[in-house]
Amino acid sequence: MTDDDAVARHYTKGDLAQRIMEAVHAVVPDMAHVTPRDLAPVDEFHIGGVKATETFTAKLGLRPGMTVLDVGSGIGGTARFVADAHDCLVTGIDLTPEFCAVATMLSAATGLSDVTEFHDGSAMTMPFHDGQFDAAMTLHVAMNIEDKAGLYREVARVLKPGAVFGIYDVMAGPEGGDLDFPVPWSATPATSYLATPDAMHALLADAGFTIEQEDDRRDFAIAFFDGLKKTAADGPPPLGLHLLMGADFKQKVGNMVANIAAGRCAPREMICRKT
Ligand SMILES: C[S@@+](CC[C@H](N)C(=O)[O-])C[C@H]1O[C@@H](n2cnc3c(N)ncnc32)[C@H](O)[C@@H]1O
Repeated sequence: MTDDDAVARHYTKGDLAQRIMEAVHAVVPDMAHVTPRDLAPVDEFHIGGVKATETFTAKLGLRPGMTVLDVGSGIGGTARFVADAHDCLVTGIDLTPEFCAVATMLSAATGLSDVTEFHDGSAMTMPFHDGQFDAAMTLHVAMNIEDKAGLYREVARVLKPGAVFGIYDVMAGPEGGDLDFPVPWSATPATSYLATPDAMHALLADAGFTIEQEDDRRDFAIAFFDGLKKTAADGPPPLGLHLLMGADFKQKVGNMVANIAAGRCAPREMICRKT
């Protein structure tokens, strides 16, 4: 099995559309007016959820009408947030066909089909023109990709000169060492590839990016999970990331928190510009 197959299989649930819509029905009083905020508990599949998205996208200098690429767009929460809050046109691409189908469905449910679109495909060979986009972002994706040099070259190819590229990923932590598995992005070490921030600097420079801002999100992540622990004492709410992570979600999140606390991995943002 290729890495792409293994990664898509890891994320595929089979009945995600139905389970999400059932949960949405349970929590949203008026199905004719579902908002991106209503979906935020389930469709922002990265540490810190929509709070992290807000902080991260505020650093990108997005302007109304910009074309933005979301690399590894999942079920589309970040794409819808950027389309809605920043008034941009967002194109997502994701390896997991089920996620793309759910992303398209949720954009229709929130009335954002005209400003978001989702392509089922690999970030390594994207079906987009050279210099097509004004901006790109990627949240919690490169952990699944071994050939990061190829990934960042491909992102640079589809960006206009001077375009911003925001990365929010889990990177190797200062203490190093083997991660506890499973984690949300992989059940085993076979499809988990974390780069150190120093390695990222070199990879991004080689791909033609200058890093303009870098933020360690470790403390934010720890505080976020502490808050989650307090509110989750009664079990998960109907609409939550457990729908994306599956039955072992508690173990996956618990391992990730332990990995971050021990410095084996660390969430980090890098805001880059294509030179
Ligand atoms: C943890 S989820 C994050 C999804 C989304 N960025 C978010 O924050 O909600 C990781 C996503 O990366 C996608 N992915 C992993 N490897 C990929 C690749 N080579 N090309 C495109 N998408 C990929 C997976 O299918 C999955 O949807």
